[in-house]
Amino acid sequence: MKNSRKIAVRAALEAGRLLKERLGDVRTIDYKEAYNIVTDVDKASEAKIVSIIRGEFPDDDILAEEGGFTEGAGLNRRWLIDPLDGTTNYAHTYPFFSVSIALEEAGKRILGVIYNPMTDELFWAEPGEGAWLNDEKISVSDLKELNSSLLATGFPPDTAKAVRSNLLQFKTLTDRTHGVRRDGSAALDLCFVACGRLDGFWEMKLAPWDIGAGSLIVEEAGGRVTNLSGGPLDIYSGHILATNGKIHDDLTEALVAIEKEDSKKRH
Ligand code: IPD
Ligand code: CA
Ligand code: CA
Repeated sequence: MKNSRKIAVRAALEAGRLLKERLGDVRTIDYKEAYNIVTDVDKASEAKIVSIIRGEFPDDDILAEEGGFTEGAGLNRRWLIDPLDGTTNYAHTYPFFSVSIALEEAGKRILGVIYNPMTDELFWAEPGEGAWLNDEKISVSDLKELNSSLLATGFPPDTAKAVRSNLLQFKTLTDRTHGVRRDGSAALDLCFVACGRLDGFWEMKLAPWDIGAGSLIVEEAGGRVTNLSGGPLDIYSGHILATNGKIHDDLTEALVAIEKEDSKKRH
């Protein structure tokens, strides 16, 4: 049996190298929707990753952000690929972006690999193996108080209602904590929770390739990952709350209360 992790790491490193080389050299920007952009570099990165994975595992399913779903030979193994998480940052040469690759088997996440080429940080996890940053095992922070936590979120580009309650959550939690960052790469936000640089992260309307790898990395680092109301995570629903575990209930309660207040105002 080939080592899926080795291959995923090779693909992430090669794609990451390409992203770093091409930073500042984006030749085309297209609009998928009004605010959702894709560059020629997203496509080049995806082509590299898919060719490596397909070359090694031709019978696996692939769900890649730009190319969509390709069915394999019914092995029940599915790769989730985000060739460039943080495209808007990338297109503006803001150096915060990553490559994210996850593998599901029979619907369960069994591998997550995320690479930040600008800092040469490779995050990975497998169930039962812990979470790793390069050669070091990582774990979530020990912080217990929501009011001294550092959080991150992101805003979906396309849904007025979601953006509105997200902004209210952003404002309320900015007042109640040490701060809320909006850095523009959900995959890296999750890695930052996993290694204790952040205490929590939430976002709505993400895609499975944004959170498939990072959610496993947080869990294996000892954190907790759920939907926004504390229920089981479904990476295909796109709503995610990931924390160090200790502030999870308080943050869930705060998010639910803000959402309720917002919907009361709207009716
Ligand atoms: C985006 C990033 C961003 C998040 C957006 C995502 P992309 O992914 O993860 O942080 O806020 O919702 O779409 O489009 O750059 O791969
Ligand atoms: Ca993404
Ligand atoms: Ca992307």
